[in-house]
Amino acid sequence: MDVLTAVVTRRSRHALHEPAPSDAEFTELLKGAAAAPDHGKMRPWRWILVRGHERDTLGRHLAIGEPPEEQARTVQRMLRAPLVAALVFCPTENHKVPEWEQLAAASSVAYGLMLLLHSRGYGSIWRTGRLCTSRSAHELLGLTPAERLLGSLDIGTPDDLEPVNSRPVGNVTERVATFASLPRTGRADAGRTS
Ligand SMILES: Cc1cc2nc3c(=O)[nH]c(=O)nc-3n(C[C@H](O)[C@H](O)[C@H](O)COP(=O)(O)O)c2cc1C
Repeated sequence: MDVLTAVVTRRSRHALHEPAPSDAEFTELLKGAAAAPDHGKMRPWRWILVRGHERDTLGRHLAIGEPPEEQARTVQRMLRAPLVAALVFCPTENHKVPEWEQLAAASSVAYGLMLLLHSRGYGSIWRTGRLCTSRSAHELLGLTPAERLLGSLDIGTPDDLEPVNSRPVGNVTERVATFASLPRTGRADAGRTS
């Protein structure tokens, strides 16, 4: 699959089943995704792979403190895909590369990974929700105080029966300006010699 096809045909997939990539295949694809732009080559991210009954354990931790009627649903949400890959953001504080740039680097890796999974025939969806805020999940997964969960990728083989609409690309021309078309101000003209 060429890059443009991968980019325009990837969609978030909700219905995912076995097989999911093995730990080795996940790592192989991550190696590719890790080539994403990364100011300072800091790799401010790591992944924790959660499978089988471990997903149930994670779901139960996420449900701690929730009203009883919501707990079962929270646990169930963790079981939607055979592989839940939690994305841990590991920023370096007080670095010349500001935290927002490190976050951008971590996000770029996640997107690259989604594209590579898609090109291999796997489906994925980035999910956030309670995983990003749950102190209990933070402790269960052994995060340091400086680390943050950016959610997880649900990964598996997409269900062929799931209706997948193509993503309307829409008009992007309105999102692009040329310098020459910008409203002129005195400052914009400063420095012109002719
Ligand atoms: C940072 C981030 C967080 C997301 N969190 C969720 C989520 O919690 N639940 C969900 O259903 N989708 C989530 N998504 C997926 C988006 O809803 C999805 O990408 C969007 O609807 C566009 O659809 P597409 O990926 O099929 O093009 C998230 C996406 C991103 C980038």
